[in-house]
Amino acid sequence: MSLRAAGTLRLASGVKSSPPEGNNSLLESYGKVWCPSGEYPRELNFAARSRWYIGRVMDENSQGGSLGHTPVLLDEVLDRLDPRPGDVVLDATVGAGGHSRAFAERIGAAGRLIGLDADPTALEIARAALADIAPKVDLIHANFSEVEEALSTLGIPGVAVVLADLGVSSMQLDAGERGFSFRFDAPLDMRMDPRLRVTASDLVNRLSEKELGNVLYYNAQEHDARRIASAIYEHRRSGRITTTARLAEVVCRALHVNPDSRRSKIHPATRTFLALRMAVNQEVASLERFLDAAPKFLQPGGRIGVISFHSVEDKVVKLDFRKRANEGLYKIVTKKPIVASDMERDSNPRSRSAKLRVAIRATGDDTE
Ligand SMILES: C[S@@+](CC[C@H](N)C(=O)[O-])C[C@H]1O[C@@H](n2cnc3c(N)ncnc32)[C@H](O)[C@@H]1O
Repeated sequence: MSLRAAGTLRLASGVKSSPPEGNNSLLESYGKVWCPSGEYPRELNFAARSRWYIGRVMDENSQGGSLGHTPVLLDEVLDRLDPRPGDVVLDATVGAGGHSRAFAERIGAAGRLIGLDADPTALEIARAALADIAPKVDLIHANFSEVEEALSTLGIPGVAVVLADLGVSSMQLDAGERGFSFRFDAPLDMRMDPRLRVTASDLVNRLSEKELGNVLYYNAQEHDARRIASAIYEHRRSGRITTTARLAEVVCRALHVNPDSRRSKIHPATRTFLALRMAVNQEVASLERFLDAAPKFLQPGGRIGVISFHSVEDKVVKLDFRKRANEGLYKIVTKKPIVASDMERDSNPRSRSAKLRVAIRATGDDTE
């Protein structure tokens, strides 16, 4: 799979085209989603495998567990994806291994579990959490957009179940130094994969005002995108914005909101941080590439599930499943996305915006 060349314009499935406004080599537009252009490291291309590592979980004596991260919609995932003994299961976002542990219990020693993650730190956590499970496990440092290459390296022609639980984990948000959250003052980084070359600081300090506005508006539907972009741009005259605290402060000042006297339920900088994180990690473009590949590596009758946390991602998944269903490749299991129960929402705030969509790879015998 070749990574997208710099400067190309590709459309999110079913999303109406709008040419990029502004012309900065840092950005390209995927439909209405903006992300860095031409800066995705060539090392992530599978041709340079030396930058990858494939870890086999060996430590039988590890404590296991998912190290404090609570997997969202776990019962619903197991129910709809229905992993069975002996299945090959792909966890495309293994994270702390929460969903993976539950898959492992279902598939047993005859099964095989493959876990991908763009973040090598997450893989280390998953390695410990999955140390004592029965199935054979392969953990691979990879973006899920490169799933086909990962599977082909392992010699796996198809999988019975695949799950992508999108976005960042609570551990990543809580690791203040990663720069994902305004809750900690830290360098404005936001890269899940340290090999990526463009940080949030690069975008904030180098994009034009118009491009910044586009990133905020199209990635996170920030209604005050122009006002925030203008404030960031103005601030740059007096100095670069290189920390999470400074960015949050600039946003709050632009919106005339004191974050301590909350007028709204969410921090005023929430959407700004989300939009930048999506751009830095090319989240929607990666999701689209993953969804494009899925019908090729899903066995007939195999199931795909995607858990998304905001409307842009959910729309990409919904439109992809619908398109494949129209092509006769999928049967949609979830006509409407599955959301968390009240009990889960109360106990795990991260689940509140979670939406699960599931589809089955058609067998060819399907009459519907
Ligand atoms: C929400 S967490 C997954 C949690 C996991 N399901 C569990 O139960 O522990 C999302 C994980 O996906 C990873 N991730 C996000 N986008 C990715 C991508 N495009 N490719 C690979 N990993 C990705 C993040 O680094 C993070 O570790």
